[in-house]
Amino acid sequence: MNLYKFFLMGLFWFRANANVLEDDKQALLAFINHLPHSRSLNWVTNSSSSSVCQNWTGVTCSQDGSRVIGLRLPGVGFHGHIPVNTISKLSGLQILSLRSNGIYGPLPFDFSVWKNLTIVNLANNNFNGSIPNSITKLTHLASLSLANNSLIGHIPDLGMHNLHVLDLANNHLIGVVPKSLQKFPKSVFVGNNVSMMFSSNEVPFVMPNHKPSLKPKNSVKLSEKALLGIIVGVSVIGFVGFAIFWSMCCFERNRGDGISSKLGKGLMSPEKEISQSQDVNNRLVFFEGCNYAFDLEDLLRASAEVLGKGTFGMSYKAILEDGTSVVVKRLKDLSVGRRDFEQQMGIVGRIKHENVIELRAYYYSKDEKLTVCEYYAQGSVGDMLHGKRGEDRVPLTWETRLQIALGAARGIAQVHTEAGMKLVHGNIKSSNIFLNSQNHGCISDIGLSAIMSQIATPIARAAGYRAPEITDTRKVSQPSDVYSFGVFLLELLTGKSPVHTTTGDEIIHLVRWVHLVVREEWTGEVFDVELLKYPNIEEEMVEMLQIAMACVARVPDQRPKMVEVVKMLEGVRRNTESENRSCLPESSTAPLPKVFETELSAR
Ligand SMILES: *[C@@H]1O[C@H](CO)[C@@H](O)[C@H](O)[C@H]1NC(C)=O
Ligand SMILES: *[C@@H]1O[C@H](CO)[C@@H](O)[C@H](O)[C@H]1NC(C)=O
Ligand SMILES: *[C@@H]1O[C@H](CO)[C@@H](O)[C@H](O)[C@H]1NC(C)=O
Ligand SMILES: *[C@@H]1O[C@H](CO)[C@@H](O)[C@H](O)[C@H]1NC(C)=O
Ligand SMILES: *[C@@H]1O[C@H](CO)[C@@H](O)[C@H](O)[C@H]1NC(C)=O
Ligand SMILES: *[C@@H]1O[C@H](CO)[C@@H](O)[C@H](O)[C@H]1NC(C)=O
Repeated sequence: MNLYKFFLMGLFWFRANANVLEDDKQALLAFINHLPHSRSLNWVTNSSSSSVCQNWTGVTCSQDGSRVIGLRLPGVGFHGHIPVNTISKLSGLQILSLRSNGIYGPLPFDFSVWKNLTIVNLANNNFNGSIPNSITKLTHLASLSLANNSLIGHIPDLGMHNLHVLDLANNHLIGVVPKSLQKFPKSVFVGNNVSMMFSSNEVPFVMPNHKPSLKPKNSVKLSEKALLGIIVGVSVIGFVGFAIFWSMCCFERNRGDGISSKLGKGLMSPEKEISQSQDVNNRLVFFEGCNYAFDLEDLLRASAEVLGKGTFGMSYKAILEDGTSVVVKRLKDLSVGRRDFEQQMGIVGRIKHENVIELRAYYYSKDEKLTVCEYYAQGSVGDMLHGKRGEDRVPLTWETRLQIALGAARGIAQVHTEAGMKLVHGNIKSSNIFLNSQNHGCISDIGLSAIMSQIATPIARAAGYRAPEITDTRKVSQPSDVYSFGVFLLELLTGKSPVHTTTGDEIIHLVRWVHLVVREEWTGEVFDVELLKYPNIEEEMVEMLQIAMACVARVPDQRPKMVEVVKMLEGVRRNTESENRSCLPESSTAPLPKVFETELSAR
């Protein structure tokens, strides 16, 4: 190809761009002219194409000025339908925010054109159509807020990989929340008539093929019908193995009780049968003997509920007939074999600490890897912080937040002393931190990241906790745990999620935001509004903020060790308790902590 042709192509390209932008401009003008609004916009009909990009309120163009890629018109007082063939022609659109207007009628999506939409905020309008199924074609969609409208019908299965912010609250939606969306907090669905439960004929697991020929006699009473009710879908071999070895586990534990021979005899025949099957080792291993009063059959029959999709797989709550609830986690994509898995589970299962949620059992077979833990009815700290912010909400007090922080820190510090001071938690986040009976924080989900395959697209909420040096989740370290814990502290202080959108529809990373706010010296604005009503806690909050900032230092070596973090957190209360609190001035304004200055000057 010669230069001339290149030039010609360049010229074409240029003209094509100008035409596209002119089309975008006409589409915008048609939109504004056909949709009544109360605030006037400076969109002048005779302005040049280029001033569309530079001067029009709410319009953003691509860097080369060739396309309109963003339209943000919140609170303009729009009233009416979105006119057809207007903004749906903006084929380069990535951001659309028309929140807080009075727009009604169907949602304006034209999915054949809007392929690049990333952020959509149409909250606080009167949209009264349904959410079309074809919305799933928006594969780039990262944030979708349709809260406070009058949307009807079912929630489509928005299984888009990138979707990490969702708000459908306060509509007229019905039905079951699709599985792919159950990873979101329940709060994003409130104010609708939807359920999170699976109805009885929707089995959340796909049952692996079972091999009836290997079914031993003593499991005959488990009819096909019962099997249909199975919630935890382990294979029949797995089931039998589990039943046998569960009994074995009782047998071993009770060996000294004189019942052993009786039990042993009872077990002989099926044990033989099982040992003839190929997979003898499929068994659920209990760590604490048999202090759970249920067997596998009970577990399988238990009603189950999806708790959420975690970083490593789905979690289910299984409620047994006697009322016991356990959390069953179904691990996806292990990166290690049975031996390493069992070794890691052995290490984790041995940890006994009041701030560590005990792993009660695990199960390993070719098709299924499960862990069983205690269930904490109050939900995770993440739910408590970010769940239903509304009138009937009981906010977490400062006292509780301090105890949560301290408890979780102690739990993590304990984890870091295990396996010859080498064990790493690897997945610290508010949804893995719970309240124990003393209202102290305690942690779960320990040591899994080291044995799981790296996830192609990490769930963004988890990504918000990840230390900057961690590019491969298997390479987590104790310093990266400290970083994640620092993000969690910031979450407790600010009440904000590690990744969230602002009213301006930007996607915000909490650490960056706190740096920014602190740098601009609005330190007071960092803190959760729910904390502002407690008197005389400012100093404690600023101290905790300092600790958090030290934990999220960019350079891993500069982060404190977890035991030091525990000491510092213990100091927060001691320091202020040693003073006579009532003598503190009403509004003691704390100076900007040193740690911010060093952190900022390091950039
Ligand atoms: C656009 O039209 C207005 C009058 O309607 C005029 O004052 C203004 O100068 C025009 N602008 C351009 C860029 O032609
Ligand atoms: C558009 O904005 C630029 C500055 O951003 C200003 O110099 C120019 O006069 C504006 N043009 C119009 C037509 O308002
Ligand atoms: C969508 O985005 C990609 C990458 O930013 C771009 O190459 C493509 O042209 C966009 N599509 C449209 C229809 O604008
Ligand atoms: C939506 O609301 C508008 C205005 O209130 C009404 O005219 C229209 O019939 C409604 N559409 C549906 C599907 O309910
Ligand atoms: C929806 O409305 C409620 C009550 O007016 C408000 O608190 C909430 O912030 C709104 N949601 C969004 C996403 O704007
Ligand atoms: C909620 O939906 C169920 C069926 O899905 C229906 O029976 C019930 O009446 C609905 N409740 C309300 C308040 O609309």
